[in-house]
Amino acid sequence: MALLTILCYPDPRLHTVAEPVAQVDDSLRTLIDDMIETMYDSNGVGLAATQVNVHQRLVVIDVSETRDQPMTLINPEIEWASDESHTNEEGCLSVPGVYDQVERADLIRIKALDRNGKSFKLEAEGMLSVCIQHEMDHLMGKVFVEYLSPLKRNRIRTKLLKSQRESIR
Ligand code: NI
Repeated sequence: MALLTILCYPDPRLHTVAEPVAQVDDSLRTLIDDMIETMYDSNGVGLAATQVNVHQRLVVIDVSETRDQPMTLINPEIEWASDESHTNEEGCLSVPGVYDQVERADLIRIKALDRNGKSFKLEAEGMLSVCIQHEMDHLMGKVFVEYLSPLKRNRIRTKLLKSQRESIR
């Protein structure tokens, strides 16, 4: 297994729209295992392939306390979302050190393929629901800071560009 490099906002590659996965095979499973390892290593609860510069519809998630319940969603689709929504604090491995409020549907029903290519359905609420919606946004090229005001977003962009310049030096 290998740790993958996570793209950092405002890297333009984060705005790439992912293509559907055509085939669930061993090379995809290697990528999935590397993404799970990278997510755990970074203490994240989710990681979309977009964030490691692979533009295919694939996300890994683990919202368990024990950090041993990884879930893989391939070609996920939201079939239904509740009208009821809540605002939650979100962060993102691609936007280090930034946390802010985003409104999301409370309850969602999705379908996806698992790591063996088998189709399944899932109803999610709470943190899992928020996490799935956040990761699926990545697949559409959307980063959570795009829900914030232009003023806040610009501040975040400036701060991250500055810290990226300093870490290169
Ligand atoms: Ni994220």
